[in-house]
Amino acid sequence: MKRVCVLVLLLALSQATEASIIFPGQLDHAEGDDCPTSSGKTGKCSRSCEHSVGVEEPSRCGIKDSAFLVCCDIPSNPGVVTAALTNINPPNVAFQCGRNAQNFLSSRGFSRGSVLRPEPPTPPSPIIEISASRPARSVPGVPLPEGGGGETAAGIGGVNAQKNAWPWMALLGENSPAGIRWFCGGVLISEQWVLSALHCFFHDTAEVVRLGEHNYNDDNDGANHQDFGVAETVLHPDFKFGEGYHDLALLKLDRPVVIQEFISPVCLPWGTESDEDVTTRTATLTGWGDTLLGGFPSSILQEVNVTVFQSAQCDRSYSTLPHYADAWPRGIGRETLCAGDLNGGRDACQGDSGGPLVTREARGRFVLAGVVSQGYGCGHKDYPGLYVNMRHGPYLAWIKKVAFTTP
Ligand SMILES: *[C@@H]1O[C@H](CO)[C@@H](O)[C@H](O)[C@H]1NC(C)=O
Repeated sequence: MKRVCVLVLLLALSQATEASIIFPGQLDHAEGDDCPTSSGKTGKCSRSCEHSVGVEEPSRCGIKDSAFLVCCDIPSNPGVVTAALTNINPPNVAFQCGRNAQNFLSSRGFSRGSVLRPEPPTPPSPIIEISASRPARSVPGVPLPEGGGGETAAGIGGVNAQKNAWPWMALLGENSPAGIRWFCGGVLISEQWVLSALHCFFHDTAEVVRLGEHNYNDDNDGANHQDFGVAETVLHPDFKFGEGYHDLALLKLDRPVVIQEFISPVCLPWGTESDEDVTTRTATLTGWGDTLLGGFPSSILQEVNVTVFQSAQCDRSYSTLPHYADAWPRGIGRETLCAGDLNGGRDACQGDSGGPLVTREARGRFVLAGVVSQGYGCGHKDYPGLYVNMRHGPYLAWIKKVAFTTP
């Protein structure tokens, strides 16, 4: 797993001697000493910090081998540091979230439904090379169930999405000699941040984030996609390899997007919206992932409706699997959203990871309910999909701190 480190500027000792005058009493710690972090907590004086929350540059605490040491937060026991993050009030933003082309035009006086016409029938999509390193949405090391249940084509029970209906949908890619290799989905949550699943970055690095795409194999598909670089990748600090919790990562784009009909952020369930119970509701999943278990990914964005179940339902079904005790030592609970199809057949699959599950709220606004994380097979009725639950307060607070707080 790739870790993302805080970039520490290393200065020559001559400058550092000057600096010791500017920061009196701050640079006298040795490596491994306790020290005050930039947020005033007690940290450890180190050469570099293992993970960052991306906003604050660590304060300097000492000098060793002509380089500054920095004061790093002490890695948390799961839940300890994040429990301290509680601010989930709606952030001040300059954009309207959760609007798609339909909402855009209706707000300009066009009648609803005049824009999103059904797609004309599409010819079968060309077969795309399956990348060997596409992150398995299934649980590593556990054999897939027989048959899978994904008996129908398209998105595990999905259909081609309407163009511009999901303007927060992101596609994450890595450059390769043959072109961009797409490996995961993501979701635009602000002008400059995309949320995705942490496990997407075990084997791949997001170098390109594509927004506004419909069919990635067709440049004449009527979608005006735009590609962005990635300035920063921030992994959830409590994620533990081998466990299923905290599968979240945030990507900072190299420049802010210009919000428009086909590129526009989704809403997050800030504040009291996070208390809402969405179980039994219909939620829509979008992605370019496999349309069959062990099948091919789709180059045309797919959408599929699933039902949100209680987490306890997933806890019960997954607890029968052999890896359960290792992957979910505290059980499948509030952090995880469980959603699928009572009859099986509608689900996320490989390649959908990191993508959004949204609910449609009053006034047609779309709110992010979950991020595609994992599942046992795809579309199996006894094993609904597992999503990172966006109504879990500590996740909202972490996202707010990283992506919605100006330093
Ligand atoms: C999903 O459900 C919504 C209503 O919640 C409906 O408008 C939409 O057409 C459904 N999409 C599919 C692909 O069934």
